[in-house]
Amino acid sequence: MRNAQGSLKNLLALCFLAGFVALSSQTSTPCALREYPAGLVCVCNATYCDYLENPSPENENEFVIVSSSKGGLRFDTTSGTINASDFIQVVDYNESLENATQGKIVFEKAAPRTVTIQVDREKHFQNITGFGGSFTGAVSYILDNLSQDVQDHIYKSFYSPHGIGFNLMRTSIGGSDFELAPWAYNELPENDTTLSNFTQLDSRDEKRIEQIKRLKLVTNVENLRIKAAAWSPPPWMKSNNKWTGTSRLKEEYYQTWADYHLRWIELWEKAGLPIWAISTGNEPSNGVIFMFFAKFMSLGWTPRKQAVWVSDNLGPTIRSKYQDLVIFGNDDQRYTFSFWFKMMKAMRSDSVDYLTGLSVHWYWDEIFEPAFIDVARKEMPDKIMLVTESCIGDKPWQSAVPILGSWKRGEKFARNFLQNLQHDFNGWIDWNIVLDEQGGPNYVSNFVDAPSIANMTSLNEFYKQPMFYTMGHFSKFIPEGSTRIAAERTNVNVDTVAFLRPDGSVVVVVFNSGYASVNVEVRDKKQGSIKINIPQKSIHTILYN
Ligand SMILES: *[C@@H]1O[C@H](CO)[C@@H](O)[C@H](O)[C@H]1NC(C)=O
Ligand SMILES: *[C@@H]1O[C@H](CO)[C@@H](O)[C@H](O)[C@H]1NC(C)=O
Ligand SMILES: *[C@@H]1O[C@H](CO)[C@@H](O)[C@H](O)[C@H]1NC(C)=O
Ligand SMILES: *[C@@H]1O[C@H](CO)[C@@H](O)[C@H](O)[C@H]1NC(C)=O
Ligand SMILES: *[C@@H]1O[C@H](CO)[C@@H](O)[C@H](O)[C@H]1NC(C)=O
Ligand SMILES: *[C@@H]1O[C@H](CO)[C@@H](O)[C@H](O)[C@H]1NC(C)=O
Ligand SMILES: *[C@@H]1O[C@H](CO)[C@@H](O)[C@H](O)[C@H]1NC(C)=O
Ligand SMILES: *[C@@H]1O[C@H](CO)[C@@H](O)[C@H](O)[C@H]1NC(C)=O
Ligand SMILES: *[C@@H]1O[C@H](CO)[C@@H](O)[C@H](O)[C@H]1NC(C)=O
Repeated sequence: MRNAQGSLKNLLALCFLAGFVALSSQTSTPCALREYPAGLVCVCNATYCDYLENPSPENENEFVIVSSSKGGLRFDTTSGTINASDFIQVVDYNESLENATQGKIVFEKAAPRTVTIQVDREKHFQNITGFGGSFTGAVSYILDNLSQDVQDHIYKSFYSPHGIGFNLMRTSIGGSDFELAPWAYNELPENDTTLSNFTQLDSRDEKRIEQIKRLKLVTNVENLRIKAAAWSPPPWMKSNNKWTGTSRLKEEYYQTWADYHLRWIELWEKAGLPIWAISTGNEPSNGVIFMFFAKFMSLGWTPRKQAVWVSDNLGPTIRSKYQDLVIFGNDDQRYTFSFWFKMMKAMRSDSVDYLTGLSVHWYWDEIFEPAFIDVARKEMPDKIMLVTESCIGDKPWQSAVPILGSWKRGEKFARNFLQNLQHDFNGWIDWNIVLDEQGGPNYVSNFVDAPSIANMTSLNEFYKQPMFYTMGHFSKFIPEGSTRIAAERTNVNVDTVAFLRPDGSVVVVVFNSGYASVNVEVRDKKQGSIKINIPQKSIHTILYN
């Protein structure tokens, strides 16, 4: 028995070495792990940052598994053979074992639970538009303070295929709360329906555009899609003549506000960054009922009033020049989602026809079930559905200050990505790609966490949080044009979602949030069986042909 185990172990180690040799010829660099009180981050500086060249199975018999864990795995790659009779163990990161077991393969003694995931690549669901993050004024400010090399590593970490392969980006039309001060175009002169003072870009936008162009250059991102949303018009267009509080758009400025959007799109395009999409406005409920909670620039809309504006002004104005620009509706929390479009439609039936996308923010998802989004999806199956904002630290009971190394926060992203993808979402745009140690800058101190945190004291390091990697387990491996396929699990010990990529290969994301290792068998009718043992508190992406 001992001998049999030993020789099997050698065999497995050999399999691993074969994979290791193949990978070592690529330009991947491992994570420089650093421990903070709450957990582990990867440290990047001007001369060093971790990347993973996208692995792919060498042949039909091989699968590749990329792993991250609370214990310290960060996109660690292992490969194995399909139809092997034993479970290949993905060993959790353990520094003291670093030199002893080059291969991350040992034989499991105790019998852990087993979960079978049945993948059916014939059963198709939604297609993927992509994944992304946001380029706010705060992001722009932070980047501007960092050296070019550090900036480039931030761009590449998020948008290069060797990073986490983002292709979507959200930005604000004028300001948002993540700014040094509120701002909009044409604040002066007041009551100016011709927007006579909005003829060129603000220096803050010029800076942002210059940075995004640099991002495109250094990352080689294919098909960067920029989605924009306005937080607030200049105060004179609003009923309360203020940046925040209860407000409505004054009816005499309905057309002006539509023209404002068109002008902004034209100016960005002229500056070299075509706009893929806009929304009807960030979180309209903040200016109706949640102004005590959201003290930042907002414009209140009820769905009925917004339907009139979209139908009479925004829709026709945008379509007069941009037939294919995506217009996202709602851009607010899940609890508004089920009634918002219904009420718009009841007011003006053509208003929802102008909307080619539906977007939602994740902030109350733990309370409001996915049923809220399913209703809208069922009614409007052809619209692009994206989560367009997510972050942690917005709630009074959460630490607003970033928690460096929090695996728990990483898990929250994994759980929510899985849920929304299982509910037919086409993609996800996270909030600020980088913030400072306070979770800002934010002009109303609405500090939150972010997937990367820059050291604004030394200005020469940034830290990639577990959230960065858990998002990356989806964004990096599920490119635009992938199709979700059926993946049924036999029990709840792990959660999963699977995709067929445009290159014909299959991606299965497997998430273990429990405190024990789990045996996972992925069964694919066409390819056979993949057996892995995954450690506690870990997430994995399996790739095979
Ligand atoms: C940058 O990070 C690398 C890897 O952790 C380290 O070896 C190097 O000393 C760091 N450079 C500076 C200037 O801190
Ligand atoms: C790491 O490995 C050592 C030696 O096998 C073991 O004693 C220790 O418990 C392990 N640590 C973790 C966190 O698994
Ligand atoms: C592993 O080996 C390297 C190089 O020999 C050494 O510097 C390092 O301290 C070793 N790590 C452990 C945990 O023993
Ligand atoms: C996904 O894309 C494919 C290929 O473009 C298309 O045939 C299919 O209808 C799309 N599926 C959905 C649900 O939109
Ligand atoms: C960032 O740069 C601005 C000028 O561009 C400067 O005023 C500010 O002090 C810098 N902030 C930090 C934290 O270095
Ligand atoms: C135009 O806007 C700028 C600020 O962006 C302001 O300084 C200037 O006074 C405005 N011009 C007029 C005519 O109001
Ligand atoms: C703009 O219109 C408002 C409301 O009619 C008025 O109170 C205000 O004085 C006007 N501002 C200017 C500069 O004319
Ligand atoms: C940022 O850099 C400063 C100066 O090197 C250092 O004292 C501080 O601990 C760093 N911050 C973090 C979060 O590591
Ligand atoms: C694995 O086994 C199944 C069932 O015997 C077979 O259909 C499949 O072709 C095998 N896969 C590979 C990659 O050999």
